[in-house]
Amino acid sequence: MNHMLWSSRLEDWYEQNKRELPWRDTCDPYLIWIAEIILQQTRVAQGYDYYVRFVRRFPCVEDLARAEEDEVLKYWQGLGYYSRARNLHAAARQIVEMGGFPRSYELIRSLKGVGDYTAAAIASFAFDLPYAVLDGNVYRVLSRCFGVEIPIDSVQGKKYFAALAQELLDERNPALYNQAIMDFGALQCTPVCSEQKCLTCPMNEFCVAHSTRRVNELPVKARKTAVTDRYLTYVYVRCQNKTFLHRRQGNGIWRGLYEPPVVESDSKLTPAELISQAPLSELMRCSESRLIVLKEDVTHRLSHRLLHADFYLLELDDIDYVKKILCSNDYVQLEETGRDGYAVPKLLTLMWELL
Ligand code: ADE
Repeated sequence: MNHMLWSSRLEDWYEQNKRELPWRDTCDPYLIWIAEIILQQTRVAQGYDYYVRFVRRFPCVEDLARAEEDEVLKYWQGLGYYSRARNLHAAARQIVEMGGFPRSYELIRSLKGVGDYTAAAIASFAFDLPYAVLDGNVYRVLSRCFGVEIPIDSVQGKKYFAALAQELLDERNPALYNQAIMDFGALQCTPVCSEQKCLTCPMNEFCVAHSTRRVNELPVKARKTAVTDRYLTYVYVRCQNKTFLHRRQGNGIWRGLYEPPVVESDSKLTPAELISQAPLSELMRCSESRLIVLKEDVTHRLSHRLLHADFYLLELDDIDYVKKILCSNDYVQLEETGRDGYAVPKLLTLMWELL
């Protein structure tokens, strides 16, 4: 097949069907970078609002570099995968130290949190450099159009598709071509594709999967991701209109976010098991205490985990005692009305609504 014909057909489709999106009206690499990192987390419909809020608060890389990590996380709250927000913040500082946004693929790729996809997106959209993007949409379009059955999550598949994508790239119009193939995957060549959609698809005469009736079998994935169950039992402490939150440590995806006392386990805890755990066992020695179930079995899906959360409210009366126990365990005390000033995992915003 003639590659020029293929790419110009795709670009024609794009000109007629493209979505007007704020990060497409700009060649500013900073704005493009922010949009791409947000869009790795979420669909365009939801990402749009996050993007607008984020760039209103941090309109240029210097603003982001100067900000406190807590504030950046606050603007990221609800998107999940907070390491991305931390990397964004660290990379903003790298960029300022470099004296401005780098203009070559290699330097862009060297930024914290920027992988092959993001580097190709920024290099092409901002600087029209000839690097083909390869994301889930592109894998789908290429595997179907070219009838490629190599699993996209295998080493061999990644190599194969990267070379194919680069070979097909319209080098005269890298930005246009990359946007076109991504939007084509997002809007036309969708994960579940109806017969009707394929019949009216402008690429169908080139499409191997269409002619062999295998559209919905491609792309092939070797592995199904194993999902493990985790149980989280949260206890919101209320004492004289104060509450207590703790900044999460470790290397997990929620590092740096705040949470009330929580017990993590492989199976659901009974209230008796819950209150036998520190620091709750100590708190329960208060003269007056009331443990109330707010909600049980709230589930939340992460890429490799299915979280099951139980939410409890623990009302206590002796503020001096509670403070002594929790503040010595690195909790901060706050007015309950100030709760929304702390970045928390999305799961906990559900808990806040029950209080
Ligand atoms: N998803 C990821 N990047 C995108 C972009 N630049 N436009 C639309 N959707 C996207």
